This record gives sequence, C-alpha cells and structure tokens, in this order.
Amino acid sequence: MTTSNGFLNGRVALVTGGSRGIGAATALRLAREGADVALTYVNDKSAAEDVVRSVEALGRRAVALRADSADAEEAAGAVARTAEAFGGRLDVLVNNVGVGLLGPLENLSLADVDRVLAVNVRGVFLTSQAAASRMGPGGRIITVGTCMTQRVPGPGGTLYAMSKSALTGLTKALARELGGRGITANIVHPGPIDTDMNPADGPFAAGQAGMTAFGRFGRAEEVASTVAHLAGADYVTGAEFSVDGGHAA
Ligand SMILES: NC(=O)c1ccc[n+]([C@@H]2O[C@H](COP(=O)([O-])OP(=O)(O)OC[C@H]3O[C@@H](n4cnc5c(N)ncnc54)[C@H](OP(=O)(O)O)[C@@H]3O)[C@@H](O)[C@H]2O)c1
Repeated sequence: MTTSNGFLNGRVALVTGGSRGIGAATALRLAREGADVALTYVNDKSAAEDVVRSVEALGRRAVALRADSADAEEAAGAVARTAEAFGGRLDVLVNNVGVGLLGPLENLSLADVDRVLAVNVRGVFLTSQAAASRMGPGGRIITVGTCMTQRVPGPGGTLYAMSKSALTGLTKALARELGGRGITANIVHPGPIDTDMNPADGPFAAGQAGMTAFGRFGRAEEVASTVAHLAGADYVTGAEFSVDGGHAA
C-alpha cells in the first residue's frame, strides 16, 4: 500500500542508515507522504545519492550525510547537519541504523561487543538525544529494533539481541521523558526482511521464513509503511510494533 495523502507535508525527517534496505525504503516512504529527508550512510556514497535522486523525483528535498553512527560526534552531529540543510528544523527521527553481528558466544571478541554497542546502542542514544533537543511539539522518534528482542529462534544472537533490547528501554523512557513536550517515541521490530543484511536467498533464509506465519520474508517497504504511520500518529507513544509476519506469535 503506497498511496499518499501528504500527511507529512512540510516535515523534515532524518533516517539513519538510509542508503539501502529498510532505511532507503523508509526515506522514500516518508518523502512520498510529503517529508523532506536527510539520510546517513557510511560506506556506499553512490547508493545514498541514488536514494537522494529518488526522493527528489518525488518532488521533495533530500540530502545524503556521511555520518558513522559508531562515532559519537558523527552520530549526534547528523542532527545538526539535517537542521542546517532544511531551515533549522527536525520533526521525525528514524533510528534505523544497525549492524547485525551474529555468532557463537565464545567467538565474539571485545572489539565485536564494542562495535555493535557503539552503533546499535550508543549511536542511537546520542542521535536521539540531539534530536530531542531540536524537536518541537509533534516530534517523532521511531527506532528500528528486531523480532529477536521478542523471540530468539536459535543460537548466535546474544550480542545482537542484547543490543537491540536496549532500544526498547530507551524508547519507553524517551516516551515518558518527552511526552510532556508532545514528542512521541516508538519502536518497530522487523522480522526477516529481504535486504543486503539478510537476503531472502541467504544460507539461513529458509529457516527464518519458516518461523513466520506467512512462510516468507518481508519487504523493506512493509516495515517502512509502519514507520510512516507512526510518523503521523499523535496518540501513540512508548509502544512496540512487530512487523514480523508472525515471527513472535
Ligand atoms: N533485514 C532484516 O532481516 C532485519 C530484521 C530485523 C531488524 N533489522 C534492523 O533493521 C535495520 C536496517 O537493516 P537492513 O537490513 O536494512 O540493513 P542493511 O541492508 O545492512 O543496510 C544498512 C544501512 O545502514 C547503513 N550503515 C551501516 N553501518 C552504519 C554506520 N556505522 N553509520 C551509518 N550508517 C551505517 C548502511 O550504509 P552503507 O551502505 O554506507 O554501509 C545502510 O544504509 C537495522 O537496524 C537492522 O538491525 C533488520
């Protein structure tokens, strides 16, 4: 379902990790609903620029920002750079960026732990903190978690599930802290979604698909539509939404 009624007209959104996968689909969906969009990336400039051109083709403004979420200054700085690009405002933050490092507990190094926590937790905290300081009433913070915070289907997920579970606590606490200013915070938990991180033809795909009620991977656009809904929702905060094809059922 990709029809638009322009309910985000005049809003400015920042989507972290918006050059591919769920982030790219979200950037496009928010633009289709009327938002101007900044997106961050770290490696693939040309993919980020492709998303910018696609947003512009929808008649919205877009900017690609190279900002490594593992770097504290860059994670927070993306917010100021977004505001600079779009007249000083930020209305919607989508904390999409995440790294999906899976592996046996005994194989995970200290460097792995630090890297995953820096991107999946510290970066999300710092970007959210910076965004909250800019947002006015109507601000929206939407974070991308994972179905593995609700059901861990097998071994290998300790670090990833731990990191993403922190985001549920962050979301609920942000909802309480920012509610009085008219800012909402919610979290979306995707199931297996066909992206570069987790391709639907990858070696572990059949097992993941089989754990959903539909027996298939989801599409990035199916996550993006829920994110867009939350960007426009007024009386929803501190909530968790599964977009997982029944993975947690
Ligand atoms: N796919 C799934 O099955 C699934 C399921 C549950 C949850 N999720 C979550 O959904 C989110 C998006 O996943 P995805 O599957 O769309 O991932 P993806 O295909 O790997 O895309 C990741 C995006 O994040 C950017 N990125 C990676 N590291 C970054 C960093 N340190 N700083 C800034 N940007 C960075 C990438 O940009 P570059 O190209 O420049 O690196 C890219 O735009 C993640 O939080 C993931 O944990 C995914």
